[in-house]
Parts: sequence; C-alpha cells; structure tokens
Amino acid sequence: MLLDGKVAIVTGAGRGIGREEALLLAKHGAKVVVNDLGGGFDGTGADNRPAQQVVEEIKAAGGDAVANYENVADFKGAKRIVQCAIDTFGKLNILVNNAGILRDRMIFNMAEEEWDAVIAVHMKGTFNCTRHACEYWREQHKVGNVLNGRVINTSSDSGLLGNVGQPNYGPAKAAVATLAIVVDAEMQKYGVTANAIAPVARTRLTVDATPQTAAVMNVKEGEFDVFNPGHVAPLVVWLGSDDAASVHGEVFRVGGGVVWLMQGWHTGGTVSKRGDWDPSDLGSKIKAELAKGVTKKETMAEVFRALKQV
Ligand SMILES: NC(=O)c1ccc[n+]([C@@H]2O[C@H](COP(=O)([O-])OP(=O)(O)OC[C@H]3O[C@@H](n4cnc5c(N)ncnc54)[C@H](O)[C@@H]3O)[C@@H](O)[C@H]2O)c1
Repeated sequence: MLLDGKVAIVTGAGRGIGREEALLLAKHGAKVVVNDLGGGFDGTGADNRPAQQVVEEIKAAGGDAVANYENVADFKGAKRIVQCAIDTFGKLNILVNNAGILRDRMIFNMAEEEWDAVIAVHMKGTFNCTRHACEYWREQHKVGNVLNGRVINTSSDSGLLGNVGQPNYGPAKAAVATLAIVVDAEMQKYGVTANAIAPVARTRLTVDATPQTAAVMNVKEGEFDVFNPGHVAPLVVWLGSDDAASVHGEVFRVGGGVVWLMQGWHTGGTVSKRGDWDPSDLGSKIKAELAKGVTKKETMAEVFRALKQV
C-alpha cells in the first residue's frame, strides 16, 4: 500500500474533510493520530466523541489509530500531538494541518476576539504543529533517521482569492499557504516537503457557518456528489507518500474529482523611471500601462459554479 509503515497526524480529524483524510490515510496503510478538540464550528466547547468515533471506524476497517483531543492553538498542546504519534506509533512521517473554525463578520463589525480566535486556530495552530514536527524531523535527520516528513496545510479560496465576510479567516488561510512555501524551502535539506491544499466541500463550515454557500452545495439526487468531502482525501494521501517527494511548496485547489494547481503573486507589469516620480504622473502611467495587467478576479461563487459544470 502507498503509505505502509507511515505514521500520520490529521488535526481536526473528527469531522468533515479531516475525518475523510484520516480514514483514507489509514486505508492506505498509515497509522493515524486523529486529533480533534470537538468544539462547535466557531471553536466554542469541546467533545471527545468525534475523534473517538473516527478511531473506532479506522480500527473496525482493520487500520490503526489513536485519538487525541489537544487544541492546536496551544503551543504546548501541539507538541503533545506530535509526541502522541511518537509515543504511540514510534515516529511521525505526515502532518496534515486541517483543524479549523469560522467566525464570519464584515471588517467594520469584527470583534477583537473573533479575529484572535480564527487566527489562533488556523495560523498559529498550523505554525504550532509544523514547528514541533519540523524540530523532530531535523533532530532525526541529524542522527541519520530520514523520515521523509510531509506537511500538508489546509488553505482556502478565501485566502487565495479573498471572500466577503472573512477578513480574519482569509488572511489566516493565505498565511498557511505561504507557510507551506517557507517551511518547504527551510526543510528540503532534511527530506521534508510542505504543500497546501484549498478544498471545496460540503461540511458544517460551508453549510451551518456560511448558509449563503449551503444552497450552492446541494446536488440533485442521482448526480455525482461533487461537494462530498471525501473527494479531497486522495490528494492528501498522495502528497503524504514518498512518491510525492518532488512536489515542493505548491498550492492545490481540490474538490469533486478536480485538482487545480494554484499560482500566486507574480509580476503583472511594471512602470519605471530613473529618478523620482511626480505622484500624478505616476498615477497616469499606472492607469495607462498597468491597468491592462489587471485581470478580472475569480470569486468563490464562480469556483463553486464551475465545479458543478466539470
Ligand atoms: N469545507 C470547505 O469547503 C473548506 C474550504 C476551504 C478550507 N476548508 C478548511 O478545511 C479544514 C477542515 O474544515 P471542514 O470544512 O472539514 O470543517 P469541520 O468543522 O467539519 O471540521 C473541522 C474540525 O476541526 C476541529 N477543530 C477546530 N478547532 C480545533 C482546534 N483548535 N484543535 C483541534 N481541532 C479543532 C473541529 O472540532 C472540527 O471537527 C478547515 O481548516 C477549513 O478552514 C474547508
């Protein structure tokens, strides 16, 4: 099997996309730490059952897994997630940073705690787990134990394209895509790759937390269920494997059997002058020469519609 002998952590694996990733990683031979705090979609509360149930499902299907209920936003808790893999299964190969919450609000209404909570889970949580995993992989590499570490961060179209009502979530998701690029560059010499995915799937985050997307995600009975969260997992399984060793710092959108290679900031044109610009002259030049480089921006609504038409 593709992941025989591998040990994986999936954060936020009690529900939604993470649950499907944990199940498929296990099906392909990985032993899995199923981490999940078990709270509401806004990050409040806690419940051990979602993680436990996924572990039971994996075991019932003949795989091996352990539940972990740490909060990824807690730096020391994240270290305990990594340690859980090492203590239970002897090592760690694959880290899937998936845990997430939403607290949508327009920028002018957003409360400080709504910003902090979302940044803490997505951005700091991804940093926390990645930092401890990378320390471990570097130490192991130094003593000759090359573990082919794999980091898979979970970004979002909200971070790559921008989305109304998510001035906290979008920047956090852009950050985790960039973090994959940075971590990959830093960790290549230790045999580690880091990449990011931007999933499109029907979960409580796209149904309960954002009712405006719920209707788009309905599919007619008998039709291929493009928004089933299970469609995200095959890419994650492959990115976690040794076969994906040449994939470095990439960002993929994934959903409904479609994988898009996403490409980010790049130079779209220049205006230049040897010397200081007069601001008005600069403005005229930008409007005349760079406006043509301004392309129509893709929106998340267009992505959803396009996916239904593939
Ligand atoms: N559903 C989509 O279309 C979509 C699109 C883009 C990105 N994402 C991202 O995919 C990831 C999975 O989300 P989902 O849609 O499956 O939602 P979900 O709510 O079904 O799953 C998220 C899981 O993360 C857990 N979690 C939340 N905070 C945690 C914390 N601090 N520590 C540990 N676990 C925690 C939750 O308990 C939950 O089980 C998230 O990062 C989300 O932002 C989803």
